[in-house]
Amino acid sequence: MRAKILIVDDERSIRELLEIFLKKEGFDVTTAPSAEHALQTLKTAEFDLIVSDIKMADMTGVDLLREVRAQNFSGQFILLTAFASAETAIQALKMGAFDYILKTENFIEELKIVVYSALENRRLKEENTYLRREFRKVHGMGNLIGRSQKMQELFKMIEVVSATASTILITGESGTGKELVAKAIHLNSPRAEDPFVSVNCGAFTETLLESELFGYMKGSFTGAAANKKGLFEVSDKGTIFLDEIGETTQAMQVKLLRVLQERTIRRVGGTEEIPVDVRIISATNRDLPTMVKEGQFREDLYYRVSVIPMNIPPLRHRTDDIPLLANHFLSRLNATMSKRIERLSDEALKKIEGYSWPGNVRELENAIERAFILETTNELSATHLPESVASDSRVNAAISIPDGGFSLEEFVESLQKSYLEEALRRSNGVQVKAAEMLGMTYRSFRHYMQKYNIEAGA
Ligand SMILES: Nc1ncnc2c1ncn2[C@@H]1O[C@H](COP(=O)(O)OP(=O)(O)OP(=O)(O)O)[C@@H](O)[C@H]1O
Ligand SMILES: [Mg+2]
Repeated sequence: MRAKILIVDDERSIRELLEIFLKKEGFDVTTAPSAEHALQTLKTAEFDLIVSDIKMADMTGVDLLREVRAQNFSGQFILLTAFASAETAIQALKMGAFDYILKTENFIEELKIVVYSALENRRLKEENTYLRREFRKVHGMGNLIGRSQKMQELFKMIEVVSATASTILITGESGTGKELVAKAIHLNSPRAEDPFVSVNCGAFTETLLESELFGYMKGSFTGAAANKKGLFEVSDKGTIFLDEIGETTQAMQVKLLRVLQERTIRRVGGTEEIPVDVRIISATNRDLPTMVKEGQFREDLYYRVSVIPMNIPPLRHRTDDIPLLANHFLSRLNATMSKRIERLSDEALKKIEGYSWPGNVRELENAIERAFILETTNELSATHLPESVASDSRVNAAISIPDGGFSLEEFVESLQKSYLEEALRRSNGVQVKAAEMLGMTYRSFRHYMQKYNIEAGA
């Protein structure tokens, strides 16, 4: 597609010169005789590049640059000037002009070079943004991986909320990636350069948590040898992640509520109200609404922390992500360990996909790591997967219909007989126990024993 260029100059001869020249180069050219005119034109049309004179009657080119940037113009900007003023030039570059050009005798040749490199630069930038977006679609955000519809939606939400400073509550079962999501929000936010501080509220006693979060003044308790900043102060301008917020005591909840309302903290033993500018992200795997109903969690705090609620679905509800994550963990291990395993075996993959992963991504990560360490071939086999993973898919593994067909009824009966015998062996022949093991009543256990001719002492 032809690049679109807007020329802004109040001198007609220059406008015409540039128009003729740039059109000859094959660009789609529009002209504006004043800054005001240019701003009007920009309301209805998009441009890849603006070439503007600096000195114009109604507004300087630098002011025009500031104005179009404020209106989200994302294309390139080149300034033309009759006399070199280093100050203006630097100012223009600082504000994001691509370059500036002196209107000397042969400036048109120089302009040509600068126009081409500005457009090339823009193309690369766009390509970069595009590639990043595509990459996210397939792989996720940073360390956060997922291709399922649910995760894609979550990524979109992360992008949206990252731009704001709103308070967020992340819910999800254990191991679903709550902390990773909190970090992704922080890293995508304007606060990314400032600290991300994670606090596990469930890991401290109330007093310890208080001095961790709010800090203390020298001498406020035995052992307080010097003034100490709390984590709210440490994370100023950044993000604080309050993990397991459901584990906090009622007294702590009151204190947190104050921070959320006042945006100030007071150190233990201190009197000064210290303002903090911090984005608060909380997380829990508890059911906070129920805790509110049962009086275990303050309702007012609940509303304050959950301005934007985000839920991470358990892994078993987004099975598309399982093989992707498994391979991701495998390549990460390959990169960090002094051994190489090329791939997951088909059987291993089948077992991994068939398992329900109650411990979610963390359980999967651990299972892959363990199998990786124990594996001696260059393929990750099912042999070293945890027992639970291997056996959970035993039904799937048994399902295979022979080419010539077979009697399902006979097969099920023989299976049933084997389970009865195995249960009797394990219970040392105690039939009540064996029946219990198989979730049967003693009566029906006896019935099947007779049916399959199983001896009581087996
Ligand atoms: N989508 C994902 N992509 C890659 N790794 C993930 C993903 N989700 C979770 N993980 C990994 O799984 C592990 C558990 O994630 P995380 O600690 O964020 O979970 P959590 O929800 O905070 O768990 P808990 O409730 O137990 O604290 C981490 O090692 C994390 O890197
Ligand atoms: Mg966590």
